[in-house]
Amino acid sequence: MTLLEYLAEADRLERELAERLAAIDPATRIDAVKGQLREWRSQLDQLQKSITAVPTDGRRDAGIALNRVRKYFDDSLQARESTGPAHGAAAGDLTMPARHPWRGGRHPVTLVIREIVDIFRELGFTIALGPEAETEWYNFGALNFPKDHPAMDAHDTLYLQPAGLLRTHTSPVQVRTMQRWAPPIRILAPGNVYRRDFFDPSHAPAFAQIEGLSVDEGVSFVDLKATLTNFARRFFGAARTRFRPSYFPFTEPSAEMDAECGVCGGRGCPTCKGTGWIEILGSGMVHPAVLDAAGIDSERYTGWAFGMGPARIALSRYGIPDIRLLYDSDVRFLEQVAQ
Ligand code: PHE
Repeated sequence: MTLLEYLAEADRLERELAERLAAIDPATRIDAVKGQLREWRSQLDQLQKSITAVPTDGRRDAGIALNRVRKYFDDSLQARESTGPAHGAAAGDLTMPARHPWRGGRHPVTLVIREIVDIFRELGFTIALGPEAETEWYNFGALNFPKDHPAMDAHDTLYLQPAGLLRTHTSPVQVRTMQRWAPPIRILAPGNVYRRDFFDPSHAPAFAQIEGLSVDEGVSFVDLKATLTNFARRFFGAARTRFRPSYFPFTEPSAEMDAECGVCGGRGCPTCKGTGWIEILGSGMVHPAVLDAAGIDSERYTGWAFGMGPARIALSRYGIPDIRLLYDSDVRFLEQVAQ
């Protein structure tokens, strides 16, 4: 490389820098300015390296040209730094008190789900998830619903076109889990479910459920009752619980569990509709037909399952009078429970 070629390249770089600087908005932060000049910077480094290609008697002049370009670069950056965006007159009144940071919070239903998941995690339950758009087979068929069961009416279930439905409960996750893993199985399946209900103080057309499932050899109703009673003690404090016989096609026998109302301590109040008890969950021993449908040997294994509604639980836990408050997204309400 001749000295003249070197000097021409130095001039070219100088002009290019001037052009690039002029094209950068003065309000750009200094690190962004540096970023935009990175490619130019590497050309400068290249120029510095190629000085050895210049014959020795031209090196001195080449070095002077190189330093000129480098100084132009350094000075320009320094100038940008001291006149950066925050220093302009338009930056506003710097004595104005800062705005409080906006902090998000967890929704009451999320708080309840997390607390429940934490309690069951200690007992070896892990999380399993399933789709909200389900097939009829997973939502009903595999769960032993008889062909004419009223839950399958379009009146109760939201069907999809051309096929399938919005799951009406989280129980299909039981089937999906058993198909996928061999016992011992201990899972919790939180998620949203959908029913053709209108909003009223205790109903919503879309709401969360938490499903629980335990399958192993020798699992009995004792395990169900002990685990769920332990859960109710942990979650609701020293509350008493009671089990009432119930019916679900996919469990036999079935039972509903009530917990003593935490708001009135069992004396009776509007939250528990004067009964002193809050319905917490439905449960039962997994029906052998369900085990078989999911490919689990029902001669060898037994299991128990439950399903509960964290929104209802949030109502009693936080003394919320109307379930619709949970879905209004009114920050003035949500802030009262958010963590
Ligand atoms: N899937 C039932 C419901 O939505 C609840 C349930 C789950 C009952 C598991 C028993 C066992 O009402």
